[in-house]
Amino acid sequence: MATISTLAYLVASVLFILALRGLSHPGTSRQGNQFGMIGMGIAILATMLSSNMDMGGFALIVAGLAIGGSIGAVLASRIQMTSLPQLVAAFHSLVGMAAVFVAASAFYSPESFGIGTAGNIHGSSLVEMSLGLAIGAVTFSGSVIAFAKLDGRMSGAPITFANQHRLNAALGLLLLLLVILFVTSGSPLLFWAIAILALALGFLLIVPIGGADMPVVVSMLNSYSGWAAAGIGFTIGNLLLVVTGALVGASGAILSYIMCKGMNRSIINVLLGGFGSGSGGAPVVGTGVDADRAPVKAGSPEDAAFIMKNAQKVIVVPGYGMAVAQAQQVVREMADLLKKEGVQVSYAIHPVAGRMPGHMNVLLAEANVPYEDVHELEEINPEFAEADVAYVIGANDVTNPAAKTDKTSPIYGMPILDVERAKTVFFVKRGMASGYAGVDNELFFRPNTMMLFGDAKKVTQEIVQALQR
Ligand code: TAP
Repeated sequence: MATISTLAYLVASVLFILALRGLSHPGTSRQGNQFGMIGMGIAILATMLSSNMDMGGFALIVAGLAIGGSIGAVLASRIQMTSLPQLVAAFHSLVGMAAVFVAASAFYSPESFGIGTAGNIHGSSLVEMSLGLAIGAVTFSGSVIAFAKLDGRMSGAPITFANQHRLNAALGLLLLLLVILFVTSGSPLLFWAIAILALALGFLLIVPIGGADMPVVVSMLNSYSGWAAAGIGFTIGNLLLVVTGALVGASGAILSYIMCKGMNRSIINVLLGGFGSGSGGAPVVGTGVDADRAPVKAGSPEDAAFIMKNAQKVIVVPGYGMAVAQAQQVVREMADLLKKEGVQVSYAIHPVAGRMPGHMNVLLAEANVPYEDVHELEEINPEFAEADVAYVIGANDVTNPAAKTDKTSPIYGMPILDVERAKTVFFVKRGMASGYAGVDNELFFRPNTMMLFGDAKKVTQEIVQALQR
């Protein structure tokens, strides 16, 4: 039986790797998900069949699967695409909490896990258990705060105070000291001291982080949750949990690194917490209107249709507003009509456009936009200078030149899509409101900009109608 379960674990591990590979491209992501689901099914079955649990234990697991699975299925089917980041943060908190509970059950009932007897647990198991416990508790409280910030239940503004980094560093060192003491003594008091200190540290690491930097935090917490699972996998001697945890931990860390690069942030600052809270780091709520500025030029969908029909090259720049309006389908219809007129249409994707990694890619894939038309920032930026039109639909921060010029801006340093280099820039948005980072965008006032005020879907539908006339 042990050999069969080892083989099943191996198959599941390979399926998880294939899942990650599949998820790295929109075209293969559905298949990647299927691999992941089959792998998880095999893993659960193999674990249940290989353990010598009685009928009661078996029934408990099936009941847990049914309840948890139903809640997950209902939540996932009802959730709006724009609320996915907070759902992911909430799910990470559950992984952290599970790691804490498994560590506690291994500590109080070591015989069932084969790691020693009460009061006499193997030293190596105490190390693994305390690491899983500490990382799990940090993940739990950190994810709860990330959820509250992303869901608007708590202000997205950074909460900072003097000597914050020093306090976090001191708590980190204290945590390490407690882990060493726990490993040498196996004291229950120290077990719970680690849990409480790690919960406090998770909270303190995330509260100073501003809303605009949340994407990196969510992916960091994803990584932490993986490492917590891997630590617990060692404790309970489950190799598959070690492999899965390491895969999640490593892929989350790589994603965080890529996102840090996309936002021009340093990964070390993320690990320490509190980046983006320096000068101007607070995402303030911008009014979006500057009374002293020249009035903006507003156009109609007919004007936009006329200009785009006569263009040679149009670059569509989607952002959060396109997701809110669910305008991706009609954007593709517009692009199809323009292509029929001989216009070259491509799409520019900023790494943090929208509210989650790959948000725009997913929406465009959903609307069957050909992958070869979709380009990442570095690839497309040189092309704006040759474009007749940049059609910016519901994007704002990712085009804001303040990121290049204004050192006091919370988005300073973030690479942006150079839309202003196109001959004409259309901004499709409902009004003059700022984007997520809360900063005004001076592009709205440039002579080559034309604002198309209205809901992204409605405006684009009207352009489509004008193109069909
Ligand atoms: P934003 O800068 O947030 O701007 C979106 C714009 O869409 C708003 O200015 C809004 O203006 C407009 N809008 C909203 N609903 C609309 C609708 N129904 N129709 C038309 N327009 C609508 O978006 P972005 O350029 O995509 O930048 C993303 C921002 O979110 C960055 O600051 C990024 O750091 C942050 N963020 C990203 C992520 C990830 S991982 N992608 C996660 C969390 C946060 P009006 O209200 O005037 O219409």
